[in-house]
Amino acid sequence: MISVKNLSYSYPKSKVEAVKEITFDVQEGEIFGFLGPSGAGKSTTQKLLIKLLQGYRGEVDVLKRPLGKWNGDYFANIGVGFELPNHYLKLTGEENLKLFASFYPTVAYKPIELLRMVELEEHAKKPVESYSKGMKMRLNFVRALMHNPSLLFLDEPTSGLDPGYARMIKDIIIDLKKRGKTIFLTTHNMHDADELCDRVAFMVDGELKLIGSPRELKLQNGKRRVKVETHDEGKLVAHEFEINGLAQNAEFIRCISSPNLQSIHSCEESLEEVFLRTTGKSLKVSG
Ligand SMILES: Nc1ncnc2c1ncn2[C@@H]1O[C@H](COP(=O)(O)OP(=O)(O)OP(=O)(O)O)[C@@H](O)[C@H]1O
Ligand SMILES: [Mg+2]
Repeated sequence: MISVKNLSYSYPKSKVEAVKEITFDVQEGEIFGFLGPSGAGKSTTQKLLIKLLQGYRGEVDVLKRPLGKWNGDYFANIGVGFELPNHYLKLTGEENLKLFASFYPTVAYKPIELLRMVELEEHAKKPVESYSKGMKMRLNFVRALMHNPSLLFLDEPTSGLDPGYARMIKDIIIDLKKRGKTIFLTTHNMHDADELCDRVAFMVDGELKLIGSPRELKLQNGKRRVKVETHDEGKLVAHEFEINGLAQNAEFIRCISSPNLQSIHSCEESLEEVFLRTTGKSLKVSG
């Protein structure tokens, strides 16, 4: 669905490249996560892929066509959720969606159906300037879905949402994948990336450092060990065991049979730890 080869870009007047020689592919039907700390170049990459920024070096094909060959009809084929909502503040939520619907040859959902999807129905007739940040984000998100595109670009879709609404958006994203959509998801929330993405790309300082499935990345360098915690004589005691031979390990069996057993964890790396080890940079975890 997306093929990128040696893509580089510098903002006008900027001496440093925001995106440096990046190469990756996104397969049909996958959720591909772009993960990296603030300033890494994630949004810049999305903006290049949606033709919002021009003047890049490298090759980009989207939906089997070089980006340069796409014209105005590109936007009927892709859905875009921007990092920062850009609504008409004096218009209501419903009017905003009607206005954006008028830009497409056909739309799949009525504005009120989209608003219902993200629990904004009762706010349909209120001006967007009266919406909270989270409400604006939810409106921004459904705007990307109205024409039922096969390819979606979502830049930080859960940022600024409380855990309940973040869950709602993630469930909609999972449902979109089930319906065969391809999703390019930008985030610096590694929990979201871990949960949602088939593959993630780690980006730091404009460069792609690593691409892989979250599961593979976490298992590759993790310790094949299990950590067991027990409460012995008022103190919490941690024990570690090799995964191999656990069923025959008498000490492990004693620990897990104990009435004082507190917790059991396997010791694979978290995606955050993989990121830190690979890039030397920390991902700031955000809601
Ligand atoms: N309009 C612009 N003009 C000049 N430089 C820019 C512009 N937008 C972004 N940059 C620079 O490009 C680099 C990448 O920014 P980008 O917005 O792509 O990062 P990001 O990974 O999306 O970060 P965040 O997680 O904070 O959204 C940064 O150094 C940033 O300062
Ligand atoms: Mg960004």
